[in-house]
Amino acid sequence: MTKTILITGSNGMLGQKCIYQLLKQKDVRIIATSIGANRTSEKNGYIYESLDITNEQEVQNIFEKYQPDAVINTAAFTNVDACERDHKGCDTLNVDAVAYLLTACEKHNTHLVHLSTDFVFDGEHGPYKETDAPNPLSYYAESKFKAELLIEMSDIKWTIIRTIIIFGVVDDGNRSNVVLWVKNNLEKGLDINVINDQYRAPTLAEDLADACVSAVLKGATGIYHVSGKEIYCILDIAYMVADFFGLDKAHIKPITSASLKQPAMRPPRTGFIIDKAIKELDFHPHTFEESLEIIKQQLAQINK
Ligand SMILES: NC(=O)c1ccc[n+]([C@@H]2O[C@H](COP(=O)([O-])OP(=O)(O)OC[C@H]3O[C@@H](n4cnc5c(N)ncnc54)[C@H](OP(=O)(O)O)[C@@H]3O)[C@@H](O)[C@H]2O)c1
Repeated sequence: MTKTILITGSNGMLGQKCIYQLLKQKDVRIIATSIGANRTSEKNGYIYESLDITNEQEVQNIFEKYQPDAVINTAAFTNVDACERDHKGCDTLNVDAVAYLLTACEKHNTHLVHLSTDFVFDGEHGPYKETDAPNPLSYYAESKFKAELLIEMSDIKWTIIRTIIIFGVVDDGNRSNVVLWVKNNLEKGLDINVINDQYRAPTLAEDLADACVSAVLKGATGIYHVSGKEIYCILDIAYMVADFFGLDKAHIKPITSASLKQPAMRPPRTGFIIDKAIKELDFHPHTFEESLEIIKQQLAQINK
């Protein structure tokens, strides 16, 4: 039977990859939604609708129109420092909009697959498993945790997928991430300051999209930790990117988190134990090295 799957934030990094992963599946009707025009290069094989998830009426209308079996909610206020400065804007998108989705899911018996973050943890005892206790350090992290609690208290079928720094190539080219930021700056011969005291498990956007699609198709419920397997210092990530693309590492300047004076606090060491996702979602992430090769090929395709 054909499943109708609605993606929110489909212009974003994960949203676009979810479209592409779902296009490979049989028996799915894909409804991609984001604010404004469709910025995904591929325009065929799915329906696109403009949807602002902070507008409750728009959310209700789209559910009435398409009656989705599942929603993958990738839309979020993801700029951690901006959330620290704009609590209201952060709550509106990361918490209130999730409540609108929950109401609509309840009414239409829809499975919600929601994206959350390693930042719900304080980073004192990483790597984390799903049952570890969150302790958010920033407003962004708190907002994501508030949404998790709303979802857990709901009566709907739900999945929370927590992930860690996502990287990949996005169609419209203007969305950066750690890998592209390092590569682009070093290619221009620019110095970059890179923190030497935070540890993360970088996650290839395609791998994460696979896990989201798998959760929908398998009807998996509960919390899942989904990230790359390898945990690195951010500074080492920068060095590996430089090595891989043959760029000059002398432009990488190690600094401490404290010297950056960012408005939002970050957890020093996260990383996930991903055994549950491997077992139940058939999740098999690429190594960081393999992921860089994939990115290299994608960039070569774009620059052809
Ligand atoms: N990126 C990471 O490293 C990371 C790490 C851990 C967890 N996460 C979580 O993973 C999820 C996906 O992250 P991502 O990096 O793919 O995010 P992203 O690239 O910032 O994409 C979010 C998308 O949501 C859209 N959007 C913004 N406001 C909206 C609204 N009111 N209604 C509908 N769409 C709206 C954005 O539109 P525009 O493109 O027009 O701005 C954007 O296309 C998020 O829940 C995030 O919290 C991300």
